[in-house]
Amino acid sequence: MIHSLRGFRDLLAPDSTLFTRIEAAAREVFALYGYQEIRIPTIEPHELFVKSTGDTTDIVEKEMYAFTDQGGRHVAVRPEGTPGVVRAYIERNLSQTGKNGKYYYIGNMFRAERPQAGRYREFEQIGAEQIGNPSPFADAETVAMLVKILEKAGVQGCSAEINSLGCADCRGKYRGILSGYLKTHADALCEPCRKRIDQNPLRALDCKIDGPRLAGEAPALELCPACADHFDRTQELLKLSGVDFRVNKNLVRGLDYYTRTVFEVKAGQLGSQDAVAGGGRYDDLVKSMGGPDAPAIGWALGVDRVALLIKDSAGADTSPQIFVISASGDARAAAFKLLGDLRAAGLSADFSNFELSLKSQLRSADRSGAAVALILGGDEIKNSSCAVKPLKEKARQRTVPMADLIPEIRKLL
Ligand code: HAM
Repeated sequence: MIHSLRGFRDLLAPDSTLFTRIEAAAREVFALYGYQEIRIPTIEPHELFVKSTGDTTDIVEKEMYAFTDQGGRHVAVRPEGTPGVVRAYIERNLSQTGKNGKYYYIGNMFRAERPQAGRYREFEQIGAEQIGNPSPFADAETVAMLVKILEKAGVQGCSAEINSLGCADCRGKYRGILSGYLKTHADALCEPCRKRIDQNPLRALDCKIDGPRLAGEAPALELCPACADHFDRTQELLKLSGVDFRVNKNLVRGLDYYTRTVFEVKAGQLGSQDAVAGGGRYDDLVKSMGGPDAPAIGWALGVDRVALLIKDSAGADTSPQIFVISASGDARAAAFKLLGDLRAAGLSADFSNFELSLKSQLRSADRSGAAVALILGGDEIKNSSCAVKPLKEKARQRTVPMADLIPEIRKLL
């Protein structure tokens, strides 16, 4: 027997149903906010991620599925969607279309992380990128839209956290100050944080081990007046949008391209993998990748994690409403025809095998989760009627004229 790879999963109902429901909720909200779908390749040139996600990030350093293809090209399976969207924006000259620069994508991402509950090597993201709008209105709209999607998908009890990482100027100065501080306190740091001192000191702030202590002790990031104003206005607009959030000064995110506003939505119920969604502004990325000066903001939500959160909610049931049974050989064709009529009337209907015994078909009906079984035998065919057997409550079986069948069933559902 061949097993699936570690961290890679088969999704069956009800999980697959939940995924579809989350995707549908997102598509509906995206349409309201003027977003259009973009489908980007799963495999891209390796250097796309090195240059955008960042070569000192865990994602690029340790987690990418990268290989040399048959043509000798160094390629990578996408670990996130933002770099591909930015590449497409530049390559397709999308800044020249006069459109609003709002794109969404739904697709699987791949990271060779250590698998655990809520963390997989192949997982699905729904992402949104808004390219070309530098104002805090875009920040507030983007975060509010994310919250709307989560609400529509049935997620409850999440909390949004936001922070500002400032522009390249404020962050550049701060990097120096923070790395100086970390150097003098290196003995107290965990091994990965010691490595981060020179390469990526900000990441020490959201380290699960050192972060909480550094929050109180390490020097804080001072925003320049323009970045401070942007952050204040973003918060005012978020309040105006009715978004419940708190400022978390330690939120730095694990990707290199962020500037100014960053945010995450977390759910305590998820345990250590508590980030349901994350994103932020990336004002310099498009330009640094060879495109126009196009400030941008976006986020991605983890569909696998949202599915875990709404697993217990109603609506994930994929059972048919009705189960059709043929009780005798001469009723099989009529039973098959009835299945088609029920489906044409918008009722979900299933059957097992009309050639099996009545007992066996009844057993399948019970297992199917259907609310009602419809039984056709020789007598029913003769009288143009059908036996209706409720499966979920102890109501009696009764015979209904064929002509009244569909309205009668609707009353039972
Ligand atoms: P990210 O924080 O790396 O951001 O991922 C976004 C979300 O994807 C996470 O909050 C989490 O829900 C989900 N996720 C990440 N890794 C895994 C995993 N191994 N298993 C299951 N779920 C996972 C980004 O990817 C950025 N591209 C977001 C963005 C868009 N920023 C700007 N635009």
